[in-house]
Amino acid sequence: MKVTVVGAGAVGATCADNIARKELATELVLLDIREGFAEGKALDMTQTAALLGFDTKITGSTNDYSKTANSDVVVITSGLPRKPGMTREELIGTNANIVKSVAENVLKYSPNAIIVVISNPMDTMTYLALQSTGLAKNKIIGMGGILDSARFKCYLSEALGANPSDLNAIVIGGHGDTTMIPLIRYATWNSAPVTDFLTVEQQQKIVSDTMVGGATLTKLIGTSAWYAPGAAGAALVEAIVRDEKKLFACCVALDGEYGQSDICLGVPVIIGKNGIEKILDYKLNETEQAAFEKSAAAVRNMNDVLKTL
Ligand code: 2OP
Repeated sequence: MKVTVVGAGAVGATCADNIARKELATELVLLDIREGFAEGKALDMTQTAALLGFDTKITGSTNDYSKTANSDVVVITSGLPRKPGMTREELIGTNANIVKSVAENVLKYSPNAIIVVISNPMDTMTYLALQSTGLAKNKIIGMGGILDSARFKCYLSEALGANPSDLNAIVIGGHGDTTMIPLIRYATWNSAPVTDFLTVEQQQKIVSDTMVGGATLTKLIGTSAWYAPGAAGAALVEAIVRDEKKLFACCVALDGEYGQSDICLGVPVIIGKNGIEKILDYKLNETEQAAFEKSAAAVRNMNDVLKTL
């Protein structure tokens, strides 16, 4: 297996580090536009192999896409990160051009690759990658929901005193502070509904903390987070390269599912070697469906901005 991570910044490098540690690829390429930057990070990571015991071959490249040729999976993390007080949506002007050109370059050398989009605003960047490459919709996957669901489980575990691995919880909708929908009604603690153990106030706080999970970190760190985003990206790569048939919330092109079309939005899907193998139809109640429609409207507005760039 060959995996490429485009963008050797904090998220890309952390994602690559997780991919190497888990030996998800025999060959891993890290690419960045900054001269020597990806080569340096690749060399640094390579020097952890003797300590961590992996044998993935890691190569860095300064914008030479020929090095990425024949990748099975390509993760796009390129673009500016958030600054404190900034929404993901404010990055659209800069990141749209970057993501479009990265996706086109990637496909020139790896026409069969499955593309994972992490760059923000992620839902719109996934839509853009799909539109600009014309790839089959199972092959372009936006990574936001896996991260948001991990943050949801983190806040749930704190409130419940639960081991996070005993929790099942999913966040659908957009990957934005106001567009994501943590489905607390569906969340379970080893099969028991978490709502049985939490007051309404606790539930509301967990949901709102999850929604601003990224912004909270940006405020603390001064830029976008990278440990959980990188690990979430690697978890998605793992599900593809190991054909795990994992159920994740991912941003995918909708064609009538959940009442939406011509949009990429986070829904429960099965991920395996073909990328998105199935979209699952969760039975949303009226409130959840209304939140989904509101989320779709906000993402659609953002997608419309693409036409003006
Ligand atoms: C986050 O939520 C970077 O969008 C990413 O942290």
